[in-house]
This record gives sequence, C-alpha cells and structure tokens, in this order.
Amino acid sequence: MILSPSLLSCDFGRLAEELSALEEAGLSWVHWDVMDGSFVPNITFGPPVITRLRSQSRLFFDVHLMIGAPERYLAAFRDAGADMLVVHAEATVHLQRTLAEIRRLGMQAGVALNPASPLSMLDHVLDDVDMVLIMSVNPGFGGQNFLPMTYNKITILREILDTRALPVKIQIDGGVDPDNVVELLRCGADVLVSGSAFFNFPPYAQRREVFEKAAGMVK
Ligand code: DX5
Ligand code: ZN
Repeated sequence: MILSPSLLSCDFGRLAEELSALEEAGLSWVHWDVMDGSFVPNITFGPPVITRLRSQSRLFFDVHLMIGAPERYLAAFRDAGADMLVVHAEATVHLQRTLAEIRRLGMQAGVALNPASPLSMLDHVLDDVDMVLIMSVNPGFGGQNFLPMTYNKITILREILDTRALPVKIQIDGGVDPDNVVELLRCGADVLVSGSAFFNFPPYAQRREVFEKAAGMVK
C-alpha cells in the first residue's frame, strides 16, 4: 500500500511545514487536489503554489486535476514539478491524446473516474496510463462519506488489469480511513489517498502507522 495524504485537509497557511512534517513522518507520496470552481464546485491552488513548494520537498507529487479541459495546463504542471499528473476522463474530450502528452512531457500519467462514470470509459486508454484513480466520493470536498459501490468497481478493474497484464496502479480517493483499508486492498487497490482521516489525527508518523497496521504492513 502507498499512502498519499491529501493536502486539501492540511493547514494551507503552513504548506511548507506540512510538507516537511509528512517527509519526517516517513511518507513518500503527497496528493495535491487542484480544483477550478467549474469542473467541481470548489477552488484550491494551481501551478504557482506547487512550484514554490517543489524546491522544498522530495516527496512524490501526485497531482489530481479536477479542472475542465486539463490539456491546457499539462506543461505548466510539469514545470511546477508534478511527478504523476491525473486528469479526469470526464473533463477532456481527446483523452488518449491528453494522456500520451502527459507521458511525452516526462510525467507519469493517471486517469480519474467519477463515481457515476463506468469503467468502460477506460477500455481504450489503459495502455496509456500508469495509474487509474477511482473516486469513492463525488469530487470537490474533503470529509465526505465513502461510497460502498466503489469496492465492486475496484474488483472489476483489478481483474481487467491482471487479465491484460498491465502494470497500472489503482488509486482510491475519498472517504478512505483505517476502517476500510483492508477491504480496499483486498479488492486490489494500490494507492490510498486520505485527507481528513489523515490530517485530523496528528502526529503524522503515528497516523501513518495506524494506516500501515490496518493494511497489515506492520504488527
Ligand atoms: C476530493 C478530493 C480528495 C479529498 C479526499 O474531491 O479529490 O483528494 O481530499 O478527502 P477525504 O479523505 O477527507 O475524503
Ligand atoms: Zn484527490
């Protein structure tokens, strides 16, 4: 299991300190939720903020774009320091082109699906991605309840990936907490995003351990 804490639930006034606290607590990934007030109702931050924090952090920057027509900003997020760039299948018309462009720019490519979007939207782009993000809440806000129908979606996707022998990670985002970790991993998830269930329970090293214990990684 890779745990990717979502900064959406951190203290935005202390972003630099929060990032170093994550690093000190032994985390390796961090999840950035970019929102435009149009694709989702909320607004967060964009490339300038990420750029300023990039030089202060060695964490793997997992950038989740919840913006319309993300193809307009791929190079900007590469320049800002994104390691993994995730676009929503619902947000870009020429999805294959967008994903191929992310890789051409030197980043890992991810595709996200809203809860109501079928896995079949990804049938023809699975060769073009390093990760699929299955949303387990409707995107826009932290602290929402996990949608249980996600388990079935993960199971089916894991079967498709295994059948095609594709080295694609499955990431789950929304309402993840230590209580649903076991079931998510059992269904085939690899990367778990957690906002409120992580940041609301400092110290971060201890919270990481709670997640890892739930995952059976440590005793
Ligand atoms: C929701 C975001 C999530 C959010 C998850 O739109 O994509 O990354 O931060 O927050 P929790 O873990 O609180 O559901
Ligand atoms: Zn997210």
